[in-house]
Amino acid sequence: MSEVTTTTQSAAQALVNRGLKNYWYPVAASWQVNSAPIGVTRLSENIVLWRDGKNQVHALEDRCPHRGARLSLGWNLGERIACWYHGIEINSKGTVEKVPAVNACPLEGKTCIKSYPVEERNGAIFLWFGDELHPEPTPLNLPEEMASDEWSSFLCLSNWKCNYRYAIDNVMDPMHGAYLHATSHSMAEGDKQADMRVRKTDTGIMFEKVNQRDMNFDWVELGETGTMWLRLSIPYKKKFGPGGSFYIIGFAVPVDEENCQVYFWRCRKVQGWQRDAWRFLYKNRLEGLHWDVLEQDRAVLENMIPDARNNEFLYQHDIGVTRTRRMLEQKASAQLEALAAHRELSAQQKSEETQQNNA
Ligand code: FES
Ligand SMILES: [Fe+2]
Repeated sequence: MSEVTTTTQSAAQALVNRGLKNYWYPVAASWQVNSAPIGVTRLSENIVLWRDGKNQVHALEDRCPHRGARLSLGWNLGERIACWYHGIEINSKGTVEKVPAVNACPLEGKTCIKSYPVEERNGAIFLWFGDELHPEPTPLNLPEEMASDEWSSFLCLSNWKCNYRYAIDNVMDPMHGAYLHATSHSMAEGDKQADMRVRKTDTGIMFEKVNQRDMNFDWVELGETGTMWLRLSIPYKKKFGPGGSFYIIGFAVPVDEENCQVYFWRCRKVQGWQRDAWRFLYKNRLEGLHWDVLEQDRAVLENMIPDARNNEFLYQHDIGVTRTRRMLEQKASAQLEALAAHRELSAQQKSEETQQNNA
């Protein structure tokens, strides 16, 4: 393998490890963002979030352009934020509107920090992480279980001390349900062995057991609709109330290379009194049981051996994992190649302009 190929591959790996660009990601639960600005790290970027008087959430790079103080320590001025250190005011597009300490400062009017497009959906704040070539977001289309009124859901959010790719691998691995969660309320049934297959869907891939459905964690789907989501369902016993199988729509969000957040919307298709019954049962009984299951995943993932992904021996039921990894790496390479081509073209244009100006 040539040196150039190896370097390109490791750059692609590094990009996947930090988090692919050009997607919407959930970055906080709605209840976490209020009028006091908060600082969060997502995809290794420091971001300040605040809510204005009209309930709109704004998101900027968490860095004052003057001397680098954290804007998240500053003051909410509605659609602007003021830095605590020397009071400069920056609007939600990242443009400096006022430098109160001096007259006519050249910093005024300059857009010098990054702003993020924001959407608030289903009790969470989503931000668009575009690269240089994609500052404008694509539409955020959420799966039916989140978007349709026929479904009712709860958001479960957890912080895990592992790279987000382990969280994705974990969901793309339904076979672990029959072992890791063997004593749980929902995954005690079904075969301990399965042949698995991958097939394409309109928005991504489906990875499923060949001979078993609706017994355990038997299938998982990965989809891309402006954001990358994972969908799975788990059968519920009758005693868990109306609404049939329990669906989960999951998102794994990189914090930095060693930490992630998982967002799981737990959904059932129920309306009317049945919806009330499900929501009551969930809050009183099921939520605790689901937390027990999720903590089993966390215990394994946070304690994987160092560099586990580069020290493995994969077999047949890991093809969902390998297919997903390959897809992420191909996307990263494509993003990096497009950026490199764009930068080369811009450099060429600049040098031609300089030559013309000097002629
Ligand atoms: S560092 Fe923010 S105003 Fe000086
Ligand atoms: Fe699990």
